[in-house]
Amino acid sequence: MGVETPLRVAIVGYGYWGPNLLRNYMDMPDVWVSWVCDARSAQLRKSSARYPAVPTTGDLDQVLGDPDVDAVVVATPISTHFPIAKAALEAGKHVFVEKPMTADTSQACELVRLANDKDLVLMVGHTFVFSPPVRAVKQIIDSGELGDIYFVATQRVNLGLHQKDVSVVWDLAPHDISILYYWLGEAAESVNTTGRGCIVPSIPDVAFINLRFPSGIVAEIQVSWLSPVKLRRTMVVGSQKMLVYDDTENVEKVKIFDHGVDYKEPEDFGEFQLSYRTGDIISPKIQGTEPLFLEASHFVQCCRTGERPLTDGWAGLRVVASLEAAQASLDAGGVTAALAEKASCEQV
Ligand SMILES: NC(=O)c1ccc[n+]([C@@H]2O[C@H](COP(=O)([O-])OP(=O)(O)OC[C@H]3O[C@@H](n4cnc5c(N)ncnc54)[C@H](O)[C@@H]3O)[C@@H](O)[C@H]2O)c1
Repeated sequence: MGVETPLRVAIVGYGYWGPNLLRNYMDMPDVWVSWVCDARSAQLRKSSARYPAVPTTGDLDQVLGDPDVDAVVVATPISTHFPIAKAALEAGKHVFVEKPMTADTSQACELVRLANDKDLVLMVGHTFVFSPPVRAVKQIIDSGELGDIYFVATQRVNLGLHQKDVSVVWDLAPHDISILYYWLGEAAESVNTTGRGCIVPSIPDVAFINLRFPSGIVAEIQVSWLSPVKLRRTMVVGSQKMLVYDDTENVEKVKIFDHGVDYKEPEDFGEFQLSYRTGDIISPKIQGTEPLFLEASHFVQCCRTGERPLTDGWAGLRVVASLEAAQASLDAGGVTAALAEKASCEQV
């Protein structure tokens, strides 16, 4: 395909999130949206009202059988990601699938293998990996400015919409897990989770997920749909400096604190000494581009060039394996689950 030929994209799933994806693909000059597909006709009417020139259908086979579709963007409920993505790959289409990639690790492995066998792009909607403040934090961590990372603590809570089919772990934690794996360049080796279903007993709406990484870094992720305030705050503590990333801030989303504690060995048999440092607080300037636009542009570029997406099927698989282990731990009352082996397809 020549660079000037538009990439022909179909959006499957036009509920809450699909319209955001459609808007961004419509804004791209080198993309042609061939179809919007949704099982509910009321949703298709909404799409037609907004974009009358984009054809709509309730029939996925019509989309997948259309030779004028190069790529399929899937924004349906989690339980449907696997069958839709699999059918799309089998039909020879590149696939972007919303987070989390699948409902379990074996499905994730199958999609990774299929995309690999067919030489097609498989990308997962880990949107925050494309968010400018998250990118900025990655640069800061990689520059060594924070020193060795000791731990990360993150909160993603608000009075959120209770999902009917998945726990808060599967709904919200994909964001934090994908951010952590991107920042740290490693996946967790073990996880333990406590939580409970406060409103619907069978569907946990609060969870505290503790991760341990091979490097020794530890992390805690708090997720909940039950909170009086909206918090989207992450703290990264290093041996040299500390950082707070607050996504609810309008301007100063990232702040670097020149704070720390230095340990001095005792000179004789006396007690060790600690010296506390509270220096400057710096907030770097961060561009305001919409993460979804950057994510969609990356997918289009990968489809054109065959480049491997930053959030490829393997990245999706690692997150799914972690969610599965986190949920299993929660279900078992907080026992620690190992997960290094789970992220390998050889095991499935
Ligand atoms: N990246 C992000 O920040 C982000 C944010 C919100 C949601 N999401 C993800 O987007 C996905 C969709 O979430 P949502 O909140 O929009 O859900 P939703 O229930 O509001 O919408 C899903 C739509 O898919 C349609 N659908 C279901 N099965 C279908 C099928 N077989 N064929 C065609 N259409 C079908 C439904 O009719 C519905 O309109 C989920 O995976 C969710 O995790 C991602």
